[in-house]
Amino acid sequence: MIIKMLCIIVFFVFLPFLLTLMNEYILAIESSCDDTSAAVLRGTTVLSNIIANQEVHRQYGGVIPELASRAHQQNIIPVVDAALKHANITKNQLSAIAFTRGPGLLGSLLVGTSFSKAFALSMDIPLIEVNHTNGHIMALFAQEENETTKVPEFPFLCLAVSGGHTQIIKVNDYFDLEIIGKTIDDAAGEAFDKIAKIMGLPYPGGPIIDRLAKEGNPNAFSFSKANIAGLNYSFSGLKTSFLYFLRDRLKEDKDFVEKNKADLCASIQREIIETLMKKLVKASKETGIKQVAIAGGVSANSGLQKAMYDNGKRYGWEVFIPKFKFSTDNAAMIGIAGYFKYKNGMFASQDQTPYARTTTQK
Ligand code: KG4
Ligand code: ZN
Repeated sequence: MIIKMLCIIVFFVFLPFLLTLMNEYILAIESSCDDTSAAVLRGTTVLSNIIANQEVHRQYGGVIPELASRAHQQNIIPVVDAALKHANITKNQLSAIAFTRGPGLLGSLLVGTSFSKAFALSMDIPLIEVNHTNGHIMALFAQEENETTKVPEFPFLCLAVSGGHTQIIKVNDYFDLEIIGKTIDDAAGEAFDKIAKIMGLPYPGGPIIDRLAKEGNPNAFSFSKANIAGLNYSFSGLKTSFLYFLRDRLKEDKDFVEKNKADLCASIQREIIETLMKKLVKASKETGIKQVAIAGGVSANSGLQKAMYDNGKRYGWEVFIPKFKFSTDNAAMIGIAGYFKYKNGMFASQDQTPYARTTTQK
């Protein structure tokens, strides 16, 4: 009888209590640019990752900051609600809230920051601030239910490539990110988008160039690339070279872009990838690190992914690339960075304000 009673107590009291302790849920918010996203994570396992894209910018060929912050205001509550529902939990089960504090568009960041601060205060849970670029790198640690993804070991090299960043980072630890190379002007994603705009393609141009490049000849045209010392990058010269090349060709044939779209895309994509890979190979040689990753929106580029695997074979690298859904802006990556901070008690205070730019990784 006593044994039966004990079993009942263990099963109905201790086990659920233990499970509650193990199930620490984090809500994450990302609103740095034009995507409003909320995610729920249990540890590094992503239970939901909802993204509301803002179509409003497409007609302008770029993100309009004022319109972006207004759209975040409209989207944030429904997106959080959907993230909780998809994760099958209630807001009372959350242990903490993580948010993107910067860098990004200030008006956009303010929406996510203000929401997160109010939410933490009202639910009496800790607040965790996350640097957006660190979030992109932490996406490499994302796991999904009933699936194990191999993650890199420290130290590893990560090429963080997005619309706002192009950096080679030596990742020594979750919180020790050493920038060893960076762009001195445009980011690689920015170069893709600006070049697409020159060709009359809609925003964002990166994924469109990627798609069109598949049907083109990458060696059809060549453009002059900048030769920058060390591990740094420059993309503004390439963009100007492309602009002048097109201007001259259009004088001879006004349909030049239309007739050569696929070849132009394939050629410019090859130039961007060659530039990115040259310095990444150099960084690997100089540091002796052979675990090499890419992260950020441009890491979704099929040509860049192929170049990573090709170089991996050539130089004996172990290559890590985040899944597509975790590579462009999303809240799951913020939740993963948030979880590592949560485990280490690295909480933020209510007086935190967003920042548009960072010179150091936080
Ligand atoms: O990380 P992300 O979503 O936002 C920023 O933090 O900037 O990156 C967006 C950038 C844009 O410039 C977009 O054109 C580029 O990533 N991008 C791509 C591809 N998918 C997104 N660039 C090249 N090929 C792609 N498949
Ligand atoms: Zn991003």
